[in-house]
Amino acid sequence: MTKFIFILAFNLVAILLANSCSSRNASPLNFSDSRTQGNQEIQERTSYQIINQQILIPKCLSCHGSSSTVNLETYPAVYGHIARIKQETLALRKMPKLPYTPLTTKEYNLLSAWIASGAPEKPLDGGDDLPAPTIEPLTPTFSSIKKNIFQNKCLICHSAGKEAERVSLNSAEDLINSPLDLVVPGNPDDSGLILSVLPNARKIMPPKKTGIEFLKPEEIEVVKQWIENGAKD
Ligand code: HEC
Ligand code: HEC
Repeated sequence: MTKFIFILAFNLVAILLANSCSSRNASPLNFSDSRTQGNQEIQERTSYQIINQQILIPKCLSCHGSSSTVNLETYPAVYGHIARIKQETLALRKMPKLPYTPLTTKEYNLLSAWIASGAPEKPLDGGDDLPAPTIEPLTPTFSSIKKNIFQNKCLICHSAGKEAERVSLNSAEDLINSPLDLVVPGNPDDSGLILSVLPNARKIMPPKKTGIEFLKPEEIEVVKQWIENGAKD
């Protein structure tokens, strides 16, 4: 009888092992990726917060926010898309799309190591994690608009050396002094900046073909409010 139970238990363990191995091989979270084998330490240290702050926020979220079919704003959402992220970003190198720059070797290796270790939320070595970024609410001031909107969705083209450098969004002064009447203090409805981001704009900004998300109605409202209040710095 004891011998029978022993054999039963042995078989059970063997079946479990075989299953876990085969599902591991089929899974996108393959541990035996040769590129990442030397990165044991990075694998054990890298958390979702590190990936979020070093890669997702600067290089993915302008296009993959709440209005995207591939929303990458939270850990569960990112984890749910991990196979496709691995495919598009690491295997095919199709993401991030232009005008965002490709991942640097360091970013590529970091993302690769994180996915190879199972894309954990917290560092596997139990060490300290980065705190979640503090989200400062959008307010009708130039600095808040620049930080929350322009930085992520506009300056990638509207800055020195880039394709739209002629149209500066750098300061309230630049906007007010623009020959294109980008900001007419007190009059949002005649301000080119507002006209360029409305859903019915002739050439909507950010340009549709980029895949960068359009401004949300509540974001447009805050920019209008800032202009209404006199468009101060
Ligand atoms: C400039 C916009 C843009 C940026 C930046 C960008 N993406 Fe995308 N991404 C898209 C668009 C648009 C699609 C829709 C599919 C297509 O047109 O190829 C897409 C599709 C995807 C998909 C789904 C592919 C599929 O069809 O299964 C994944 C996953 C993805 N992106 C991940 C990322 C990651 C990770 C980053 C950052 C490293 C990133 N993307 C950066 C625009 C972008
Ligand atoms: C993919 C690049 C790209 C992105 C991203 C982008 N723009 Fe543009 N934008 C352009 C180009 C190119 C022009 C034309 C520049 C020129 O005429 O020299 C332009 C022109 C403009 C103009 C002037 C329109 C006119 O009356 O001629 C405004 C205003 C503007 N963009 C606002 C924005 C804002 C606001 C954002 C972010 C929400 C943004 N853009 C994001 C490329 C971009």
